[in-house]
Amino acid sequence: MSIAYLNGEYLPLAEARISPLDRGFLFGDGIYEVIPYYGGKSVGLMPHLNRMADGLAAIEIKNSNTIEGWKELLDDLVARNSDIGENLGVYVHISRGTDVKRYHPYPEGVEPTVFCFCFAIKDPEPVDRTKVTQYSLVSTEDLRWQRCHIKSTALLGNVMHFQEGYSTGSDEALLYNANNEVTEGSSCNAFIVKDGVIITPIQDNQILPGITRRIIIDSIKADGSLKIEERTVTMDEVRNADELWITSSSKEIAPVTKLDGKPVGNGEVGEIWEKAFAIYSASKFDY
Ligand code: PDD
Repeated sequence: MSIAYLNGEYLPLAEARISPLDRGFLFGDGIYEVIPYYGGKSVGLMPHLNRMADGLAAIEIKNSNTIEGWKELLDDLVARNSDIGENLGVYVHISRGTDVKRYHPYPEGVEPTVFCFCFAIKDPEPVDRTKVTQYSLVSTEDLRWQRCHIKSTALLGNVMHFQEGYSTGSDEALLYNANNEVTEGSSCNAFIVKDGVIITPIQDNQILPGITRRIIIDSIKADGSLKIEERTVTMDEVRNADELWITSSSKEIAPVTKLDGKPVGNGEVGEIWEKAFAIYSASKFDY
């Protein structure tokens, strides 16, 4: 049975309750994280906790724990949930808390609501371009807000974009801005490969500072055998790319072989994907 953490207590997930006056429920006023654990070992725990602290500071919600305190809490929660799976995603959600009325300004003296639970995630994909799951995307204009660097629980814009892909039989929606430049996916970051060079859009307010994205960039730079660049990527470049990948804590590095019904590159998973995924997989637990 899945054991959740809610405001200092451990309890069965099905029994967790919050007030309908919680500002997370009323306004999407909160910050969240999804952290992967494989066989009890986390990937990017510290960067996830640091990003969460940055998000809380950006919207002026008190961080009720130290980084060390969070680590202890989440490691403990994972241990308590070992029966639900070998590999777990840990969801952490901190909302501004429960007020006595519905009123927009940040209330004084309200304690944040802290909610965490675990869910089973798939085994990592094989580092084998002939066996890995292939993804198909649709592209669509990014119509979300201008603070996509904040990992807010207000995800309606992302949900609507995800649905655009899902309802047409695709796995994700690849988003581009008014200048025809790629931002990210509705729940992931994006990378292309052209002539052996890996390229990903720069980190600004249009994209989430993805932890998987960061680990990929850092591990590839540390390895030194592949070229990687952070720069603006246009949709024309995507359509002419040799490879397209989407990345997230749950998907790791997922190769995309179809975009808007057309093959990406030669329509097969690329060699650079395999090399990059091997580098990432060998070092992901170091982050
Ligand atoms: N999604 N961009 C968006 C909009 C995301 O929602 C996510 C993650 C990412 C990738 O970030 P990371 O590598 O830190 O997981 C990029 C999570 C997994 C989710 O909402 O379920």
